[in-house]
Amino acid sequence: MAQTTRIAVTPGDGIGPEVVGEAIRCLETLRTKHNLNLEWDQFPWPSHAWHKEHGESMPDDALAQLKAYDAILLGALGDPGPLDDPDRYLLTDSVSLAPLLEMRKGFDQWVCERPARLLPGARQYLADERAKDIDMLVIRENSEGEYVSQGGRLRKGTEDEVATQMEVFTRKATNRIIRYGFEQARARAAERVKESRTRSFHTLDGTACESQVCLITKRNALRYWGDMYSEAFEEISKEYPDVATHHELVDAACMKFVQSPWAFDVVVASNLQGDILTDLAAVLSGGMGVAPSCNLNPTDPGMPSMFEPTHGSAPDIAGQGLADPTAMLFTTARMLEWFGRKDPVMAAAGKELFDAVAADLAENAGAQRGTREIGEAVCQRLSA
Ligand code: IPM
Ligand code: MN
Repeated sequence: MAQTTRIAVTPGDGIGPEVVGEAIRCLETLRTKHNLNLEWDQFPWPSHAWHKEHGESMPDDALAQLKAYDAILLGALGDPGPLDDPDRYLLTDSVSLAPLLEMRKGFDQWVCERPARLLPGARQYLADERAKDIDMLVIRENSEGEYVSQGGRLRKGTEDEVATQMEVFTRKATNRIIRYGFEQARARAAERVKESRTRSFHTLDGTACESQVCLITKRNALRYWGDMYSEAFEEISKEYPDVATHHELVDAACMKFVQSPWAFDVVVASNLQGDILTDLAAVLSGGMGVAPSCNLNPTDPGMPSMFEPTHGSAPDIAGQGLADPTAMLFTTARMLEWFGRKDPVMAAAGKELFDAVAADLAENAGAQRGTREIGEAVCQRLSA
């Protein structure tokens, strides 16, 4: 029997515990059904509550503790408390969300994958009927770029204050994220062919390809990293003659995501530009309630990857059982598929969960349902 796979469950703040609760319910069902060799431990940190009690969002040895797991399943972080409470325990965003970035960096989770596929039953925000064909995977560089957090404030609080915020782009991280994008394009193409839902993308010389990678930069203004990305893209693309290539400036990409999102397949973007584009992509595929995300380290099996939906802690609806757990459940399915790299039984369980969530979505299009109701419906489907 395969070695036990261990998950660190970190529900976090706001709606995090509610949606994670449904993910655990589904994991339990699948574990029993398929005798999965899967275990999990739940952690009260990182969280706002832990900060309130201990003066920090997580213990000093948090990363060392988490490193012992195969994956981290994270709900959401951030809890501003009731707006009308003058005494609320308020942390600045950069403090309450810091653990996210510490985990991404500490475990070198250099890929952030955010699929945006408009599945049947999900809310279609775009009026154009072709929106039904939206099926893209945005791959966000997750280890450096605009998120290196280097810089500072000089003469703070004075009229002569200067703030600097450095961006760092290395050739190594550039190459690996671009190559990852091409590999995903190929894998997605193979999957589509298997499922008889082929697509067609054209290279500049008119050749038709089954898949495409679109590189996003702002190279007309941010030329140094923009040029390096473009050169790396050009070079690496030669190893993938079966994949069409394309480039968009990030501002034009925003426009085209709204105008013709069905024309995109795999999209590779920098940390910040990918962050912004994936909020937009989430809405194109039905909203934050259905948008999964994961932070992966595909190169070092000793490092846990982290699975968290694109959404935040939604404090306005937290604690009321209103949050849609769909994004969390799709994210959990992706985690099982990730384990499937070593254990095919896990991959099959991941696919089963994805299919159950997708079927639930399709059958209940537009219905007003609570967190628990959706989680239970998916579990019932899994047990059937
Ligand atoms: C996300 C979030 C985070 C990010 C914030 C909370 C730091 O917006 O996961 O997309 O910018 O990466
Ligand atoms: Mn974001």
